[in-house]
Amino acid sequence: MKVIVVAGARPNFMKVAPILRSLRERGHTPVFVHTGQHYDEAMSAVFLRELEIDTPDYHLGVGSGSHAAQTARIMESFDPVLEAVRPDWNVVVGDVNSTLAVALVVSKRRHELGTRLAHVEAGLRSGDWAMPEEVNRVVTDRLSDLLLTPSRDVVDNLRAEGLWSDRCQFVGNVMIDSLLTSLPRARAAAPAFARHPARPYVLATLHRPSNVDDPERLAGILQAFERLSHDLDVILPIHPRTRARLTTFGLDALLDRLTVMAPLSYLEMVAATDAASVVVTDSGGLQEETTVLGVPCVTLRAQTERPVTVTEGTNRLVPWPPTSEGVVASVREALARGRRGVGEAAPEGWDGAASQRIVRALEEAMP
Ligand code: UD1
Repeated sequence: MKVIVVAGARPNFMKVAPILRSLRERGHTPVFVHTGQHYDEAMSAVFLRELEIDTPDYHLGVGSGSHAAQTARIMESFDPVLEAVRPDWNVVVGDVNSTLAVALVVSKRRHELGTRLAHVEAGLRSGDWAMPEEVNRVVTDRLSDLLLTPSRDVVDNLRAEGLWSDRCQFVGNVMIDSLLTSLPRARAAAPAFARHPARPYVLATLHRPSNVDDPERLAGILQAFERLSHDLDVILPIHPRTRARLTTFGLDALLDRLTVMAPLSYLEMVAATDAASVVVTDSGGLQEETTVLGVPCVTLRAQTERPVTVTEGTNRLVPWPPTSEGVVASVREALARGRRGVGEAAPEGWDGAASQRIVRALEEAMP
C-alpha cells in the first residue's frame, strides 16, 4: 500500500512516528506530509529528530494564521500532493486544523483519484462546539472511510451521530506507542530539574484559547500556581501563544515565583512528566500520558473528550470555571492520591502496539 501520513502540529508527531515505522516494517510505502502548521524548532523539528521521523517527503510550509486562512492554505497546497502521489490511503491523526483540511481535500477527490481517508483518534467528543478541535473531530469522522478509535467508550459518541458501523475499528492509543518506546531514553537523558528535583514539583502547561485568551481566567490560574509555589516548585514550559497573551495582558509579574522555560522537547517532556508529583494541564495528550505513567493529573477544562482518563486513569477535572482556590484544592487532592505504577491505570489498547493494529486495519480494509 502507498499511504500518505499527515502531521502538522506538535501533538501529531508522536502519533505519526509509530505509524510510519509500522508501515515500513510491513513492506508498505509511507509518504510523510508535514503541513507546517507548527514550524518553530521547539514545536516541530526537535520532535522529528527525537522521534526518529525521516525528513518529510512533502513540507507544505503553511505557518500560522486565522483558522480560515490556515485551513485554506493547507487545502490548496495539499491538493497537488494528493494528485501526484495518488495513495491507497491518507492517514490523519488527532483534531488539529491540518487534520480537518486534509480530510476535506481527500473526501472531495476520493472517487476521482481512488484514494481513501483513515482517521486515527476517531470518536472523541467534548460536546463543546466552542473548541475548534471539536469541529475538526466531528467533520473529520463524518468524512472518513475508516474510523480508528483509541478507547472502547467512544462507541456511544459515534452511535449518537449515526457513524457507528463496520467502518469503525478499535485500535487503541497510538501516542502511547511513542511514550513507552521513548520512556527509557527520556529517563536516561532527563533534564536536571527532573533528575534531581530540589523539591517535589508541579508540571504545568497551558495553551487553550479558553484559558489563555481571557485575562481574568489566565490570572486566576497563575495565582493558583503562585500559591502552590510556597511548598512545591511549579515548572511551566510555555507555549508561544500563552507567552504572547501574558505580555499583551501585562501579567508577566505573576510568573516571578514559577520556573518558566521555553517549550520542552518530546523526551524532556516525557522525563519531566514522569518525575512530576502532579501535572496541571489543558493539553489532551498529557491527560493520556499521565494516565499511563501513573502520575496524578489535574485538567484545566470544563469537560474532557478523554473521559477514560478520569474513569480508569489518574485524571480529574478542575471545578469549572477555574478559580485560584479550585485549582489549588484539586492539586492538593491529586497529590494526596499519590502516584501509581507505569501502566497500572492504562485503559485497554494503551499498550504500545496500536500502530500495528492500525496498519492491519488499513490492510484489511483494502478493496
Ligand atoms: C494547535 C491546535 C491545538 C493543539 C495545539 C498544540 C488547532 C485548531 N489547534 O493550537 O489543538 O493542542 O496546536 O500546540 O489546530 N506559534 C508559534 N510557533 C509555532 C506555531 C505556532 O509561535 O511553531 C504561535 C503563533 O503565534 C500562532 C499561535 O502560536 O498564531 C497559535 O498556533 P496554531 O497552530 O494556530 O494553534 P495552537 O494554539 O498551537
